[in-house]
Amino acid sequence: MSQKVRWACDLDKSVLLGNFEKRGWVQASPDEDWNFYWSSVQTTRNIFSVETGYRLQDDQIINHYPNHYELTRKDLMVKNIKRYRKDLEKEGSPLAEKDETGKYIHLDFLPVTFLLPADYNLFVEEFRKNPSSTWIMKPTGKARGIGIFLINRLSQLKKWSRDSRTSTFAAPSAKDAYVISKYIDNPLLIGGKKFDLRLYVLVTSYRPLKCYIYKLGFCRFCTVKYTPNTTELDNMFVHLTNVSIQKHGEEYNPNHGGKWTVHNLKIYLEGTRGKDVTDKLFDEMYWQIVHSLKAVSGVMANDRHCFECYGYDIIIDDNLKPWLIEVNASPSLTSTTANDRIMKYNLINDILNIVCPNGEIPDMRWNKTPPKECYGHYDLLYDEELAQSEVLERDSKSRIGIATMSLRSRDSRPRQTTTWK
Ligand SMILES: Nc1ncnc2c1ncn2[C@@H]1O[C@H](COP(=O)(O)OP(=O)(O)O)[C@@H](O)[C@H]1O
Ligand SMILES: [Mg+2]
Repeated sequence: MSQKVRWACDLDKSVLLGNFEKRGWVQASPDEDWNFYWSSVQTTRNIFSVETGYRLQDDQIINHYPNHYELTRKDLMVKNIKRYRKDLEKEGSPLAEKDETGKYIHLDFLPVTFLLPADYNLFVEEFRKNPSSTWIMKPTGKARGIGIFLINRLSQLKKWSRDSRTSTFAAPSAKDAYVISKYIDNPLLIGGKKFDLRLYVLVTSYRPLKCYIYKLGFCRFCTVKYTPNTTELDNMFVHLTNVSIQKHGEEYNPNHGGKWTVHNLKIYLEGTRGKDVTDKLFDEMYWQIVHSLKAVSGVMANDRHCFECYGYDIIIDDNLKPWLIEVNASPSLTSTTANDRIMKYNLINDILNIVCPNGEIPDMRWNKTPPKECYGHYDLLYDEELAQSEVLERDSKSRIGIATMSLRSRDSRPRQTTTWK
C-alpha cells in the first residue's frame, strides 16, 4: 500500500482537519517528519529563517512563501507594484502606456497611496490638489479593519506630520507606519450598500508564474446603507466591509452573513448592466491579479516547497472599475454561515488536489502542472510557461513579434489566451 501523507497544522479549523482526515492522511507533530504543513505565517518564517537552519526535504511542502509579505503587507505591495510599472516604463513596454493626464492606461488599479510618515510631504501635495477628498488611513501591519480610519482634513494627521520631520533619525517601527489611500467614495452599491470582493488566488510557483483563481469567491456587504456624507466618516459600519467589523453591527444577519457569491454578483450585473461590461469587469480583475503577482515575482523567494492561497480584496466602483485594495496571506478560514463552511471546505479540498494530486506524498521536484481534473472549482489564471509557448507559436505563425501575453486589445480587454477563462 502506498505511504500516507503526514500532515501538521497550526490552525484548529475543521475545514482543514476534515480534509486531511478524508484523505486518510496521518497527523504528525510540527517537529516530526511531516510532508504537508498548513502553518501560520510565523511558523513558515521561523522554518526558513537562517537561525533555525532547518532544511526542508524533497517530500515536504508548506502553505506560505517565506517572504510573502512583499505582496501581503500593504506598504510593500504598493511599493512593488509602483516599481513594476516604473520598470516596464523604462523598458518602453506598451503595458506602461499613460494617458494625457499621466495616468497608466492599463496598470492603474491601485487607489493613489502614500506611506506615512515617510511620504507625508508628497501626500500633502496630492491632498492640496483636491482638498475636499477623503482618504483612508490603514496601519501597515494590521488586519480585519483594526486601526483604520477616514480623514478629510490635514489637521487630522498632525501626529504623522511631526513624525515625518523626525523620521530620518528615528524611523518609525513597522507597527507605527500607515498607508494612506485615496478613499474610493463612489463604490458600486447594491441595495444601497457598499461591498467588496474576496477572491482566492492560489500560487504554486512564482518563476515561472503559475496561479489559479477560485470560482467561488464572495462579496462582503456592509450592514448599513452607504453615504459619502462626511458626518458619517467615523461610522465603520458604513465604510469597512470586513466581516469581523460588520458582524458586530445591529443589522447583521447571521443567516447569510452579509455575503453573496461572486456568481450571484455576476448574474445581477449581467441583468442590470449587461453581459459585455460584466465580462470586461471580470477580465479586468483577473488582469490586476496577474499583474500584482508579476510585480512581486522577481523579489519572491521562489522556494519549490511552497504554495500559497491569497485572499484578494477588490472594490468595484460605480463605473464598474475594479480597484485592488489588499492581498491577505492568511484569508480567514472561520465560517460564519453553513454555506460559508461548505465553500471553505471545498476551497481547501481543491487546493490540496492541486498541490498534492491524488493525495500522494509531495515531491518538490515535480513541475507543478497538475492534470486538469484536479482543478475542482479553480480555473487556471496564468501559466507563464504556457503563455510563453503561445507567444512563440503566435510569433512564428504571424511573424509579428508580440513581446507580452495579455497585451490589451483595442476594447481595452486583455487579449485572451488559453491561460484564463
Ligand atoms: N481605498 C479604499 N477605498 C474604499 N474603501 C476601502 C479602501 N481601502 C480599504 N477600504 C475598505 O476597508 C476595508 C479594510 O481595508 P483593508 O485594506 O482590506 O485592510 P484590513 O487588512 O484591515 O482588512 C476594505 O475591505 C474596504 O471595505
Ligand atoms: Mg482586508
